[in-house]
Amino acid sequence: MKKTILTGIKPTGQIHLGNYIGAIRPALDLAQEPSYVPAYFVADYHGLTKIHDPNEFRGLSYGIAATWLALGLDPDRTIFYRQSDVPEVFELNWILACFTSKGLMNRAHAYKSMVDSNEQMNRESNFGVNMGLFTYPILMAADILMLKTEVVPVGKDQIQHVEIARDIAESFNHVYGDTFSLPDYKIQEGGSVLPGLDGRKMSKSYHNTIPLFEEPKKLQKLINKIKTDSLPPEAPKDPDSSIIFTLYEAFAQPIEGTQMREQFLQGISWGEAKTELFNVMNRFLEEPREKYNELMEKPMILDEILKEGAEKASGISAPFLKEIKGKMGFRV
Ligand code: TRP
Repeated sequence: MKKTILTGIKPTGQIHLGNYIGAIRPALDLAQEPSYVPAYFVADYHGLTKIHDPNEFRGLSYGIAATWLALGLDPDRTIFYRQSDVPEVFELNWILACFTSKGLMNRAHAYKSMVDSNEQMNRESNFGVNMGLFTYPILMAADILMLKTEVVPVGKDQIQHVEIARDIAESFNHVYGDTFSLPDYKIQEGGSVLPGLDGRKMSKSYHNTIPLFEEPKKLQKLINKIKTDSLPPEAPKDPDSSIIFTLYEAFAQPIEGTQMREQFLQGISWGEAKTELFNVMNRFLEEPREKYNELMEKPMILDEILKEGAEKASGISAPFLKEIKGKMGFRV
């Protein structure tokens, strides 16, 4: 039996290289495995917890869809959809909310860290927290459980969310009998943490990102901004502590990585290393960037592809939701 593997990306910011290396690339690799049925989606309702500008919201949502496709996701072999096009997910969200203790939500990391930072800044502890953000993990559980997901590929920060989905599923099963299968998470191997321009993890919240489909000139400029030390050009340099080398290795062929390591050890100027880095990145990004730009100009194509995916998703979710509601005593 094939296993359903599911993941979503929320449209809350521009996709950057760290997202690609840490999450998208490993997910695309998993989608190739014959033992999986991939279900990948645009988590637009999750994005709504943050983005309240209609144009920005629309653009970011299409951007996620175009990114997946530009990077090679095959919509014929994937259930590829927009969360808001599958209303059953949202209906299940409410049902699950009624099986989720408030205490469980109080303990969720994303919410807790907002409370912590509010308290540190002497603000009211729930400042800036809307109920969408607070109940975020319930909607995520609905995403996962609605499609009978067996595996969720995650970065470390999302493990707790999958555990919460399991907890909620168990609470429901306890009352109505075995209904939801419990999802497992799969930590993304190779989903290495990419350093950003300042050497910390590349992350939107650190403002150190390189957007994935940046135009070549801007890409070069951002690469030039990477902090380096003042070693002279001919001095040997440590590849393993270098942001430039780490980024290079993520985009180069293995053999090129080995050669660059050698060059670092023998002494390469930072300028030359940056040029080489630009070359391997741009070589990889050129084609998907073009495809991405094309798709963003024709959102109707994206709509059509996403709609087909939503129909596939509903093929699972509609009968399953009926079954669920039937067990609960709704007239179905
Ligand atoms: N919370 C995830 C993130 O921030 C996005 C997401 C929403 C998701 N629903 C999901 C991921 C279901 C996996 C499964 O990255």
